[in-house]
Amino acid sequence: MEIKGTKALVTGASSGIGKAIAERLASGGSQVWGTSRNPRAIEWPEGITPLELDLGSAESIETAWNSQSMDALKFDIVVNNAGFGFFGRFSNAEFDDIEALLDALLIGTMKLCRLAVPGLIERRGYLVNVSSMATDFPVPFMSAYNAAKAGLSGFTESVVIETSASGMKTIDFRPGDICTAFNSNMIRKNSKIPNEGCMDRVWKRIEERISKSPAPEVAADKLARCISKDRTGTIRTGTFFQSKLAPLLARLTPNSLVRSGNLAYYTK
Ligand SMILES: NC(=O)c1ccc[n+]([C@@H]2O[C@H](COP(=O)([O-])OP(=O)(O)OC[C@H]3O[C@@H](n4cnc5c(N)ncnc54)[C@H](OP(=O)(O)O)[C@@H]3O)[C@@H](O)[C@H]2O)c1
Repeated sequence: MEIKGTKALVTGASSGIGKAIAERLASGGSQVWGTSRNPRAIEWPEGITPLELDLGSAESIETAWNSQSMDALKFDIVVNNAGFGFFGRFSNAEFDDIEALLDALLIGTMKLCRLAVPGLIERRGYLVNVSSMATDFPVPFMSAYNAAKAGLSGFTESVVIETSASGMKTIDFRPGDICTAFNSNMIRKNSKIPNEGCMDRVWKRIEERISKSPAPEVAADKLARCISKDRTGTIRTGTFFQSKLAPLLARLTPNSLVRSGNLAYYTK
């Protein structure tokens, strides 16, 4: 699809990967609408029109969609990018925290897809759901996040198949670590269970990786190139190791070995 002349919606366009994607699409000649829970608090770059959207409740999504006449904007590209993480031990997590994450990252995103997909089918448009490398390599102490992203990737694969005959295109976009405010925005709950050192080590690994990771513009460029080339299906982005080598090695290696490697990496 030629990006120039399209209309695009990018959720979570106030920072990080979403902001970079919104800017990349705008610089490619797309008319872009970007969402935030609090759009008035942000200085939006030229070419991006702010919309207010909280993915936290399915009801609020429908209200936002209708009150801002999003259907009438006739988007050609919809990028479901908004999201956040939750880091904590599952066995003593508040279930409200888990539900809030699943509501926003999985149920809310599916609700927005339900509203947007009929128009995308009609216009032979593009749906992009931003999942994560956590679908391939779940991160310890991020069980709700892993579940949400694996669920989102499974859902996206169904949409790829269901809509392929219509001419609509769908991408399951899986970034590896990308240097954004994701970690600092992550909800962190400390475990009261002894053996706390294990959680601290995992957190240190996550912090180490993200500080050395590529800028969000790398992910945005990759996505724009894929859209221009009409690519569909799973697209990974990030370092060469995370986006190419690790998924390939994981496919060729027994699961038990991958798990042992993961355990050693996070806990030693
Ligand atoms: N950074 C990474 O290493 C990485 C790796 C894999 C996947 N991802 C995924 O990439 C996406 C973007 O993350 P990022 O790294 O760019 O993080 P970020 O800089 O923290 O940006 C998150 C964006 O999501 C929006 N958002 C958060 N909670 C929301 C909610 N309940 N409703 C609506 N909008 C919400 C935020 O907007 P407001 O606060 O303005 O509402 C913000 O624009 C996420 O889905 C994340 O899971 C990131």
